[in-house]
Amino acid sequence: MNRVVKKRIAVFASGFGSNLQAMIDYQKNNGLNGEIVLVFSNNKDALALKRAERHGIKTAVLSPSGYEDRKTYNLEILKILDEERIDVVVLAGYMLLVGEEIIDRYRYRIINIHPALLPSFKGTHGIKDAFDYGVKITGVTVHFVDEGLDSGPIIIQEHVIVDQGYSLEKLEEEIHKVEHRIFPLAVKYICEDRLKVIGRKVIILDE
Ligand code: GRF
Repeated sequence: MNRVVKKRIAVFASGFGSNLQAMIDYQKNNGLNGEIVLVFSNNKDALALKRAERHGIKTAVLSPSGYEDRKTYNLEILKILDEERIDVVVLAGYMLLVGEEIIDRYRYRIINIHPALLPSFKGTHGIKDAFDYGVKITGVTVHFVDEGLDSGPIIIQEHVIVDQGYSLEKLEEEIHKVEHRIFPLAVKYICEDRLKVIGRKVIILDE
């Protein structure tokens, strides 16, 4: 296990950035064999960018609308990742699909958080879709990113019981609590080279 060289982490976020904040707090309070050195966004108004600035983390914003196609856009993002010598990419509420150019280069080094128990309720409205479906148990999934939609090997899952008195807002609150606890853990594991992928299975190696 290589604990000497800290991993250089880029967090991709499009919006509020509460998961980014949870990671920043974890890094401060518990330490990490890694450092968030870049926050990237497709959205110049993302609150996540403000959070990064507040903590002295470098930011970069590129909107896909400025590029002739997605491939050109992705190659531009890759250039930034190269310049910053990024080891690990963490998608925290990033609302665009990461292109295959980036996935190819960062195979098993990109992780995402999804607010449902995959493979159920993929896509952008995982919490609401599960709530509307009437499930009694939902949860949170942290997974590696592959070419599919929310389809890569699962690193951590944790359930959330949907109490029958819950409003959608209450369920969102409970889901976010779990997200903020388990996402930094997955980041810790990947930074410590403790994730071994065998087919679809991810083994978390002991410390
Ligand atoms: C989270 O619920 C995450 O699971 C989903 O997008 C949301 C991002 O929230 N992918 P935030 O921007 O981290 O507050």
